[in-house]
Amino acid sequence: MSTTETAASRPNENIIEVRDLTVSFGGFNAVDGISFDVKRGEIFGFLGANGAGKTTTIRTLCGILNPARGSVKVEGRDVSSSTAVLKPLIGYMSQKFTLYRDLSIAENISFAGSLYDMPPARVKARAAELFDFIKLREPQDTIAGDLPGGARQTVALCAALLHDPQLIFLDEPTAGAAPRSREDFWALIRALASRGKTVFVTTHYMDEARYCARIALMDRGRIIALASPRELKKIYNAQNLDEVFIKAMGAGGAR
Ligand SMILES: Nc1ncnc2c1ncn2[C@@H]1O[C@H](COP(=O)(O)OP(=O)(O)OP(=O)(O)O)[C@@H](O)[C@H]1O
Ligand SMILES: [Mg+2]
Repeated sequence: MSTTETAASRPNENIIEVRDLTVSFGGFNAVDGISFDVKRGEIFGFLGANGAGKTTTIRTLCGILNPARGSVKVEGRDVSSSTAVLKPLIGYMSQKFTLYRDLSIAENISFAGSLYDMPPARVKARAAELFDFIKLREPQDTIAGDLPGGARQTVALCAALLHDPQLIFLDEPTAGAAPRSREDFWALIRALASRGKTVFVTTHYMDEARYCARIALMDRGRIIALASPRELKKIYNAQNLDEVFIKAMGAGGAR
């Protein structure tokens, strides 16, 4: 491949490559020998019941946890040994801890910028761009804890996007949000993908999963199916993704 080719001219290249990944807590394998690739620019969904291993997988892909076995590559580099190089490329919106509730929107954003050593002027410009992108209506001095759930999540998304990462991990970003807010949030996810970003997202909501290019179904640390929404419906002879989930988890439960 010519070195002059840009990322955009290689749309099918894998941005993430996971091989035989096992992550253990004590003797327990929370992630148990999974392998998969994520393509550049796709919305990749990770679905599974509570405790399936979704968050553990994301943390390992971000380099926060180390594998007990197997390998994780992002942009062709081993994550555990290239954390510093990969950090600018990765955005992570964690499942529970997203914003400081006692700080204002602006303070939260400025703190997020300091984590990436961004100059204040750059943080300000980027925040303005992102607030425009999410159509933030609330004044920037609003305390994060006073924001409605949906708005809080979109501000948290801005914090995760501030340093303009190529690859964004969203761990249950819409959990507990009202249906309307979930729709709005997914419009943002799709807008990110249309701008060439790769989005790795976990959710419990099967209706949202239809927006993913491909979905990995996870059950007790293992991937039991990985395909597009349309293919999954075919594989499980299901009318919709809810039915896929029920049938897949039933099959996994019989293991
Ligand atoms: N730090 C930890 N120490 C010990 N066990 C852990 C730790 N983190 C996760 N686990 C266990 O690993 C398993 C997978 O947890 P994980 O949080 O990855 O699941 P999940 O799919 O994200 O679940 P949820 O949908 O509830 O967020 C669970 O059994 C959990 O109790
Ligand atoms: Mg989780």
